[in-house]
Amino acid sequence: MTQPTFYITTPIYYPSDKLHIGHAYCTVAADAIARYKRLTGYNVYFLTGSDEHGQKIERMAEKNGVTPKAYVDKIVEGFLSLWKLLNISNDGFLRTTEEKHMRAVQRMFRQLYEQGDIYKSSYTGHYCTPCESFWLERQLVDGNCPDCGRPIELVEEESYFFRMSKYADRLIAHIQSHPAFIQPPSRANEMMQNFLLPGLEDLCVSRTSFKWGIPVDFDEKHVVYVWLDALSNYITHLGYESDDDSLYRTYWPADIHLVGKEIVRFHTIIWPIMLMALGEPLPKQVFGHGWLVLDGGKMSKSKGNVVDPVQLCRRYGVDAIRYFLLREVPFGADGVFSNEALIYRINSDLANDLGNLLSRTVTMVDKYFGGSLPAPLKPVAEEDDALIALAELLPARMEEHMKGLKLPEALMEIWKLIGACNKYIDTTMPWALARDDAGKDRLGTVLYNLAECLRYVAVMIGPYLPDTAPKIAQQLSIANEMELTIESLARFGRIAPGTPVKKCDALFPRIDVQKELAALEEAVVSATAAANAAAAVPAKSAPGKKPLVSYDDFDKLDLRLAKVIACEEVKRSKKLLKLTLKVGDEERIVVSGIKSWYTPDDMIDKTVVLVYNLEPVEICSIRSEGMILCASDEGDAHLSALTTLADMPDGIRVR
Ligand code: MSP
Repeated sequence: MTQPTFYITTPIYYPSDKLHIGHAYCTVAADAIARYKRLTGYNVYFLTGSDEHGQKIERMAEKNGVTPKAYVDKIVEGFLSLWKLLNISNDGFLRTTEEKHMRAVQRMFRQLYEQGDIYKSSYTGHYCTPCESFWLERQLVDGNCPDCGRPIELVEEESYFFRMSKYADRLIAHIQSHPAFIQPPSRANEMMQNFLLPGLEDLCVSRTSFKWGIPVDFDEKHVVYVWLDALSNYITHLGYESDDDSLYRTYWPADIHLVGKEIVRFHTIIWPIMLMALGEPLPKQVFGHGWLVLDGGKMSKSKGNVVDPVQLCRRYGVDAIRYFLLREVPFGADGVFSNEALIYRINSDLANDLGNLLSRTVTMVDKYFGGSLPAPLKPVAEEDDALIALAELLPARMEEHMKGLKLPEALMEIWKLIGACNKYIDTTMPWALARDDAGKDRLGTVLYNLAECLRYVAVMIGPYLPDTAPKIAQQLSIANEMELTIESLARFGRIAPGTPVKKCDALFPRIDVQKELAALEEAVVSATAAANAAAAVPAKSAPGKKPLVSYDDFDKLDLRLAKVIACEEVKRSKKLLKLTLKVGDEERIVVSGIKSWYTPDDMIDKTVVLVYNLEPVEICSIRSEGMILCASDEGDAHLSALTTLADMPDGIRVR
């Protein structure tokens, strides 16, 4: 029988110098699915990659004084090492700057042009360079980009366009007859109502105002624009339009394109239409997952609340982070990331439920049977039957959930078995059985059943926590790979009596919540301070001096007098005070690192100088709206907050 194939992809990521935990979410989820499919017998191909072209990259590279290629090379190195750290088992990594990809995109572009699906025209639009998006006039907010709030540029350009409208009816029919194509179903509704039914506009697919892209080979002043370049990655990587398309023939159409909710639209409208125009089959499913957000809102560097996955993995271990990402958020919905929730999950689910179960079982086998797993005795008790039935049902129950990509629910099934084992210990009371010889046989059966259940856990947990599974197997001395296959779970009782168990370090050490939260806040404060200090270092200036600025630049600062009406220490921070300021009719909260010099009482009723129009940042979960000015010497041995010589009302300008 030939092995069924399974092709899964993540989006290809934009090279941003800092990937946050939200980025890791999609890749970790795709990895768990890919590993699960491998475990359950599929020939899997798992692809991820990087989306490296565009004006934004061109400008960033210029700013950094390097070529765009050198700029992206450096960032992609970071991607690769993050995916390695997170144990991502991708089979391929596509870079849109690869020759193979670029050549195939040129061929597709040419084919679409020659068959009349792409035509030349001109385009006028409001363009946001940082977001690489065109906006309609009515979508702008105060003339600025509705997404990031930054100024837009009015762009008029000769461009090629892709005739999307021609395929709209076919796509609508496809979506209607293939309910699994867009998942979860709510996203399909959204696509239909908001985009397809109102009618599709043709899509701009080339640009002439920048160079960093794939040249249109028959009209070299144009480069292929964003989505046509990016989306094709899913097939160019497999060798579509290349000399060797064997991977394409094996794996296409994709089983799942896993994407964040904001790019479902491109994957379920532009991408299938491109494939229809090329005469290729459509992917079987596009699954739009939700966003991981912080309590205060979207994760973004500019808001000062990035959560660095490398730091998190170092602090808690890769599997703890993977567990949190996969378990915490219903897959498809948005979810909140917080340090507290992460620590809670680690302590309760990983350290208490799973870690303790393994350590208790191994310790008891050690103590009561000299470290050698006892044989179970028949007949079994009622509670044994229930436990064994639960274990034997685990693979089927998980399969049900995994079919619908219900990742947290699949993990919960494993934890149901873990919970049942812990309860089984409470009910059977092995320590009481150990007290006399009569109980010893029963004790042997209880411990055998626990060890065998842990084998089920080790097998089924592997796709989600790939470092933890072998650690469990090691403590149970399961060296035989055959005992770690899905098939080995068909029958309870595979683990051989007499197997030596080995007690090792705790799987997940318990975390002291208060201490850890304090340490985290310090880490955030130091990181923010370091980032601010780095940002404040003037380019090419003499030490201590900053380059001249024009009056116009200076005038951009809005400085105001503000009265401190309340002030308190920021809990668990050594450096920060939280000030409530009255600025005319307005109240503002500002977090300031002046705790080493001032107590809250010192600050009350003082008038200070506030940088009123400084972009707000989040510090220790507090939104700080501005900054108060202080004079300080090198090394901050002395520091004094600025005020005015005469009493002046709050709210007035400082110029
Ligand atoms: N380059 C495009 C995708 C092209 S695919 C042909 C892109 N890149 S991205 O780097 O901006 O985003 C990559 C993925 O990360 C997207 O699926 C996006 O939804 C996901 N995430 C970015 N921030 C996220 C969270 N905070 N939470 C969950 N996923 C989010 O879009």
